[in-house]
Amino acid sequence: MKLCIQNMNVRDKRVILRVDYNVPFSDGVILDDSKIRASIKTIRYLLKENCKIILLSHFGKIRNNYDKQVYSLSIVAERLKQILNHEVYFSKVNFGDDVIKRVQVMQPGEILMLENTRFMDLPNKLESKCDAQLAMFWASLGDVFVNDAFATMHRRHASTYGIAMYLPSCIGFLVQEEVNALDKYIMHPEMPFTLVMGGAKMDDKITLIEALLPKCTHVLCGGGIANTCLKALGFKIGNSIASDNPVIIKKVQELLLKNKEKFLVPLDAIVGSTYDKDYVQYRRIDKIDDNEIICDIGVKTLERYSQVIRDSKTIFLNGTVGLYEDMRFANGTKEILKALANSSATVVVGGGDASSSVHRLGYGDMVTYISSGGGATLEYLAKGTLVCLDIIQEEGSSIEILDM
Ligand code: 3PG
Repeated sequence: MKLCIQNMNVRDKRVILRVDYNVPFSDGVILDDSKIRASIKTIRYLLKENCKIILLSHFGKIRNNYDKQVYSLSIVAERLKQILNHEVYFSKVNFGDDVIKRVQVMQPGEILMLENTRFMDLPNKLESKCDAQLAMFWASLGDVFVNDAFATMHRRHASTYGIAMYLPSCIGFLVQEEVNALDKYIMHPEMPFTLVMGGAKMDDKITLIEALLPKCTHVLCGGGIANTCLKALGFKIGNSIASDNPVIIKKVQELLLKNKEKFLVPLDAIVGSTYDKDYVQYRRIDKIDDNEIICDIGVKTLERYSQVIRDSKTIFLNGTVGLYEDMRFANGTKEILKALANSSATVVVGGGDASSSVHRLGYGDMVTYISSGGGATLEYLAKGTLVCLDIIQEEGSSIEILDM
């Protein structure tokens, strides 16, 4: 077990707390603040321990100056202040003398959020390339580093990994909860265990499917994952989204061949068309025309998938089975969620799209666990660890800290 915050001496310390406040937002409005809420337990604990809390987070991807205007963390600081009902100071800069001076005058119980760590990606990708000077600078602001940014622990960045090389480090409550839930429910699932795999890109998901396949009883495929399977099986899929990579197609063919009884692919679909945005038709899966695009699963598929869901004891949902943001193609996603909500199985949801669909379609309270991670959750399940977990010391052991 990695060193946890409750077993680390943080009393009266200056704590660098890395959180993941990469929240969905539009026109300056935060659409979903679950990631902010997920950090509250750790922040309250540090306040109780009389700490000075220096918050670091990334927000979006910063490629140019326009991104810097859009992705300022100031709106997140404001929301955190409302949720905590506690002052949250915001520093428009995250590097240099002004930051040092500001930290020097911090009082116990004060929270200071520094501007988006990825602003340091312009021009030289210092954050994303885990620049040692930058990591040392951030580390120099604190006595202790707490990483509670589960959703970004697969990234070897200066603020997630680099700081841990220079300061005594531990994981926060959210990371503990995530690791415990994924280990308990998915790494050691109660059988029968069903994987519901949707989403666009087979290339990104194949490692996860391969890793979980030996544990699972069925894989119910939807979206681009299903289309790639259909393509590998020789079906015509028109203009539907699917992998074009011959290596991936070959691998999928082998997996399907070796695991015939595990993989379920759609029997029918709701299709749109490349040329007519108003075109919506029902199709048997062997009757897809060249210009058609598979946008959702059909009723026969739903019946078959719902039956498997009813018989399962554990279910992991990743991705969506259709383009649910368009109401004409939302039925499959909604019905799958309804089947999951009605089942007595342990249901775990992982990955950004699946989690958003669950929240947006109102099923958030009806599943057992929703992971806060996207890529990080999938990587943890595929590899059993994450690069930023590896650098945290085990409970009861010591780890070498580099001199700054
Ligand atoms: C996420 O939202 O999945 C994490 O914050 C990671 O974001 P990233 O893919 O931009 O690194």
